[in-house]
Parts: sequence; C-alpha cells; structure tokens
Amino acid sequence: MNITEARERVMELRDLIERANRAYYEEAQPFISDKEFDEALKELEELENEYALQTSDSPTRRVGGKPSESFPTVEHPEAMLSLDNTYNEEELQDFDRRVRGILGEQTYSYSVELKFDGAAIRLRYEQGELVLGATRGDGYRGDDITRNLKTIKDIPLRLNGHAPPVAEVRGEAYMEKEAFVRLNEFREEQGLTPFANPRNSTAGSLKMQDPREVARRPIRFYSFDLSIEGEPAPDTHMEKLQMLNRLGLPVCDYHAVCKDIDSVLKIIYEWDDLRHTLPYETDGVVVKVNEDIFRTELGYTAKAPRWAIAYKFEAEQATTVIEDISLQVGRLGTITPVAELKPVQLAGSTIRRASLHNEDEIHRKDIRPGDTVVVEKAGEIIPQVINVVNPDRDGRPEPFKMPANCPACNEKLVKFEGEVAWRCMNPECPPQVKERIVHFASRDAMDIEGLGEAVVDQLVAEGLIQTFADLYSLKPEQLVPLERMGKKSAQNLIEAIEMSKSQPLDRVLYALGIRFVGRTVARDLAANFGSVDEVMNANFEDFIAVDSVGPKIAESVAAFFEIDKNREMVEQLREAGLQFEGEKKESFSSKLEGKKFVLTGTLPTLSRSEASELIEKHGGKTTTSVSKNTDYLLAGDSPGSKYEKAEKLGIPILSEKEFRDLIKD
Ligand code: IVH
Repeated sequence: MNITEARERVMELRDLIERANRAYYEEAQPFISDKEFDEALKELEELENEYALQTSDSPTRRVGGKPSESFPTVEHPEAMLSLDNTYNEEELQDFDRRVRGILGEQTYSYSVELKFDGAAIRLRYEQGELVLGATRGDGYRGDDITRNLKTIKDIPLRLNGHAPPVAEVRGEAYMEKEAFVRLNEFREEQGLTPFANPRNSTAGSLKMQDPREVARRPIRFYSFDLSIEGEPAPDTHMEKLQMLNRLGLPVCDYHAVCKDIDSVLKIIYEWDDLRHTLPYETDGVVVKVNEDIFRTELGYTAKAPRWAIAYKFEAEQATTVIEDISLQVGRLGTITPVAELKPVQLAGSTIRRASLHNEDEIHRKDIRPGDTVVVEKAGEIIPQVINVVNPDRDGRPEPFKMPANCPACNEKLVKFEGEVAWRCMNPECPPQVKERIVHFASRDAMDIEGLGEAVVDQLVAEGLIQTFADLYSLKPEQLVPLERMGKKSAQNLIEAIEMSKSQPLDRVLYALGIRFVGRTVARDLAANFGSVDEVMNANFEDFIAVDSVGPKIAESVAAFFEIDKNREMVEQLREAGLQFEGEKKESFSSKLEGKKFVLTGTLPTLSRSEASELIEKHGGKTTTSVSKNTDYLLAGDSPGSKYEKAEKLGIPILSEKEFRDLIKD
C-alpha cells in the first residue's frame, strides 16, 4: 500500500466508524457487529501508526457518541473511557505480557468480572445522597439523566450506613432478556418499531424525556467501580466491589481474584458456558489489575486504561442464506416480511425464519433473496438478520418491493402516516380472521386450552366459525369430523370453551383484539370503567383520562366500538354469558408506582387505613416492616423502632404533609 492508498483507506474507515458510532449511540440501531467494528478500528489504528496519519479528531482517539441535545451536559471529573477488546487466548496473553513488561517483578493480581451489555452510567453521591446520574456521552461529557436514573429501583437514592463525603460510582444499566422480549411485544402491539437488542432498548429508554415512562421500563443496574473523595478509599478493586455492596449498590455475583492469567482463562471458559443460563446478556469478561498502585503505574492510552481489558465472548452469530422473503398477515392486518432461511444452528437451536420487521428495514440493510447474511439472536431469543455478507455479488435480484395488494385476500395495502408498516384493512381477510380467533383463545386472553392454530384453521376453513363469538355455539358433533379430533378431545374443547365464560372482564377486553390494547391497557380499562357497557359508552375524553391510555389508544378503542359489526359481536358474547362486569377500582395516579411504604406513629389527619388506601390509589404498596427495599417511611407522632431502623438504612422519612405534597398534582 502506498501513502495515497493508505490515506484513502483511512478516510474510508473513519467514515465507516463514525457512521457506526452514530447508529449505535444516537440512533440505537447498529448496522455492523461489535466484532466488525473492532476490526475496522484496529485496521485504522495500524494504518495511522504505520503511515503517520494520526489526527486529534480521529475515532481512534475518541469513545462513544456525542452527548444528545435534549439533556443538560455534564463534564465527567474523570474521563469515562472505553476498554480495549480481545477475542482469543493469545491476545489476552499479549495483554498480560504488556502488563508484566511495565510492572516487572512486582506481584500483582487480576480481578475478573462479567462484562454487562447495556449503557455505561456514572452516579455521584454527596453525603450519601444521590445528586447526579449521567451517561458516558463522548467519554468526557455526557447527559445529565438524574431524573430518569432515580426511577430505577436498583439505584439507591441514599447510600446505606456510613457514606463517604463524595462517592463516584460507575456501572452499567441493562435489561434482562425476558423483560426485553416482553417490552418488544408491547411495542409491536402499540405499532412501534421493536428494539434490536436489550442494549439498545436500555440506551433508548434512558434518553426518554418523561421519567414516568422510564419508570415503566424494566431497567436494572450493576455497579463495577467506585472512587471516593474526602476519605481514604480501598486500594484494591475487590475491596471496592465489597464497599459498593455495603453501601447498598448492586454488584454482580460473578467476580473473582486470580493470581495469574492462566487462572483468569479458566474462569473465562467457565463463564462462557454459564452465560447462557443468566437472565441478562453478557458479551464478555473484564480483566482488571486488582491493585490501585499498579493501575497508576500502568496508566492510560487516549481511550482506554492499560490496566484493564475486555475478553469478548464469541457472538451468538451465524451465517446462512436467505432462500426467500415471505409475507405474513397479522391479526390487525399488518404485513410483516419474513426471511425464509436455509436452516442454521445458532445458540443451541435451529433457525429457519427471521422477522425482517418492515419494508424500510429491508431497504436499509438491502436484503435480497439469495443473499448470504449474518443472523444473530437478539436477547439470545429472537433471531435477527444483521447484515448482508456479499452485497456486491453478481446476479442479485432487484431490491425487495412490497406488493400493492394483500398476499392473502388481494385487498389494496395501505400505509398510515407516521407508521412504517403496510396494512390490509379488509376485516374478512382470512389470516386476520384466523389470527383474531387464535388471539381470543390465547393464554393471556380467554385461555381456551386445545384451541390452537391448527384447530382454528380447520374451524374457519370448514365454515364453522367466522368470528370468535361463534365459538360459543359450537356443538361436539361438529368438531368430531375434524382432523385429529376424537370424541374425547371434541368434548374437552367444548368444556374449555364453556369454562372461558368465567374469565374476568379485563381478559375479555384484551381478548377482543382492539388495536393497541395490550394486557396493561385492558386491565386499566377494566379497573376504570368496571363493565363492557361503560367502556362501550365512553368517548375519547373518557379513555384518555385512564392512566396507560394515550391519544392513539383512546382513538382506537373509540373507533372499535363505533363499528356496528363489533357491537353485534359484543352482544353475541353477552348472550353467550361472558363476564361483562368487573370490579371498578378508583385510581388517582401512578405517582407512587412500585413504591413500598411503611407506616409508623399517629398521623395528624389520616388513619392508618386511610393512608394505606391513598398509597394504593396512587400505585404504591404498604408493607409492615422496614427493610432496604422500603422506599419511604411515613411517620407520625410517637413513632416506634421502625423510625430508627429507617434512619439507619437511610430510607427517606416523610411527614403527612410531605406525603401529601408527593401525591399532589
Ligand atoms: S470497567 C475505564 N467493568 O464496557 C473503563 N466496564 O467497553 C472501565 N462495561 O464503558 C470500565 N461491564 O460501560 C467495566 N464489569 C465491567 C463492565 C464494563 C460493562 C462497559 C462499560 C464501559 C464499556 C467499555
């Protein structure tokens, strides 16, 4: 390579890395894998060194993305740097040799811990009080997201026991795999684009403007570093982790001290097996020199410490071929393109299909039949197509184009403003009819055992049912002739249908399959209106007053009950004897959502039960004894020992007045 070529390649790599950084940090939609990113960065670094092409604004000198504009910016007192990555034993041995080269004969040890795959967070506690929480941003300046971080239950608002004058805590916000999948289901229900993986959903959630929304996201936190001002700090990493734990900050159980790099490798191999059983994602292990004095001696490069390194696990990726792109029609008419894959093994299962989400997504990644693609499991659960391996191959078919008509019923497809999905609006479109019935019978809805897709398929094909209301007039003798349906199973199915009549109101509302009405909204509607009739007679304004209901949902519920056919079907369900009445609960707000209260002493105006009732009406709970999980102690005159215990644990103590202020509008 000559200097001109090197210059060109450097420009190309910088451009790629910058685009990848923006996509990862600012748009939460990465387009290349971590490994490809690291390889590009490594190549760039080597070229810059070899051809003396370093510049101060090169991505080799910076970490992460720009702080966003919608939060105040904070400067980090100590840079939040990145970590160098290694992908195999040899590179890890090289790291150890470099450390040994600097530390010579001195005896040092390594601490090993899991690397969490989420968003880096910095917390500042002054006199034990959480005063600031920030993102990493570009490593030097990040976003002040204190308000959002305060809603995360794992993050204590006050430290336990004796707290140093200033404690700076670093850690990772993350999302558990299961919670991530549920969040995405909910998003699809709401017509929103699902997140690519738990890491993106965490980063995206932390940047929301409304802390109440953040509070609803299942974000967790692990701390992994501590620095202290105003008094001596522990001088090994392990002791810091112990101190973090003592202060009430969550520390992951998987950490250890090793005397040499071979013992480190042993642990890495153990954890590589174990990680699949963990509820959260981990993409590797962080190896750190354990003693602080050696950290000082080893120092830093422009973007990472020399005393630490990340060992990245092999990503859960595989390469396969897209045999075809098929189209699926959902319950609400949404057309979802699906990649039909040449079967491939990935993280312990065979993958045959992967959702391509929508047309825009296919164009962004330029995916076409016949392409070789990288597939990855998001949250190690849902397979995703990451990118095309050889986009320049010869003989590629034309780019994918969504057909103008529904692949199932030929109705013209439509796309609503602000939405990415194409939809078929024909209510009689066969796959939609079928999916509606399957949804009605599903476990979270009417829970009708034995009424799966295969049976529904036949019932619809044989003309025995057109809507789910027809289920309630089925006779055993109509079922017996169906495939794989003996006398006994026909009888069982009829009984299961009969039993579903006792399902409570919120399930009935959910089962109706109203667009955007998921389980939470259905529960809130049931609690607020108390009967199907009240819901049917309510209008947009009534709906929007409900806690989890926004304008889109309110409009959708109102529109559903305006359609005559839907009203007729509801009447049929009433005649069948479904539960149309429920218990109406008065809920004032969700200001205390998830907060645990303990009461003590005599309050000036409220009795104990009145106070409990108020707490519940605002979404909180009352428990009897004070523990570190208690959020507030509500204390009146002559409080008991609970008062001292709460004080000792650093739990906020409220008077009745302060409590009333908390729930006031
Ligand atoms: S220590 C000076 N420990 O990985 C850097 N980082 O690639 C000290 N991370 O920004 C970082 N788990 O957000 C450390 N156990 C762990 C970690 C961890 C995840 C993240 C962290 C950091 C990024 C660097």
